[in-house]
Amino acid sequence: MNEYTNGEIVVLWDPDKCTHSRHCIKGLPAVFDRSKRPWINMQGTSSEEITKVIDLCPSGALSYRRISDEGKKMEPSAQIKAIRNGPLLIQGDCVLTGAEGKVLKDEGPYALCRCGGSKNKPYCDGAHAKIEFSDSQ
Ligand code: FES
Repeated sequence: MNEYTNGEIVVLWDPDKCTHSRHCIKGLPAVFDRSKRPWINMQGTSSEEITKVIDLCPSGALSYRRISDEGKKMEPSAQIKAIRNGPLLIQGDCVLTGAEGKVLKDEGPYALCRCGGSKNKPYCDGAHAKIEFSDSQ
C-alpha cells in the first residue's frame, strides 16, 4: 500500500488491486500520471476533485481518508457476507451501480452472483446450486 498526502487527505494506492481502468488518469491527468514519480501529484488540484475521481475507481485500488477523520471510530454502514457455495449477501447502506452508471439498489439486503451462472446478473438467481458452485473452485 502506497500513501500520498496533501495535508487534508491521504490517498492510498494498492497496486495489487489495480485493474488499469484508467478512470484516474483520464479524470485528473494533472494528478494521476504514470510517467512521473511519484505518479500521484497531490498538489495537482483540490482534495474534493481528487476524492471525486477516486470514488470512480472500480477496483478499489485507490482510496482515501480525511486527515480530520483520523482517530474517529468509523462504524461500517454495510456488510458483505460470502455465503458458502453461493452468492455475496449485501446488507446495509450499499449503493449498487450498473455498468451504465444507473443506480440499481441503494440499500441491502440483496445477493450478488459470484458463480457466474445467474441469468439475472448481477443478482443471484439460485443457479449456483444447479451448477454445484463450490467455494473451493
Ligand atoms: S451465486 Fe447464485 S446464481 Fe451465482
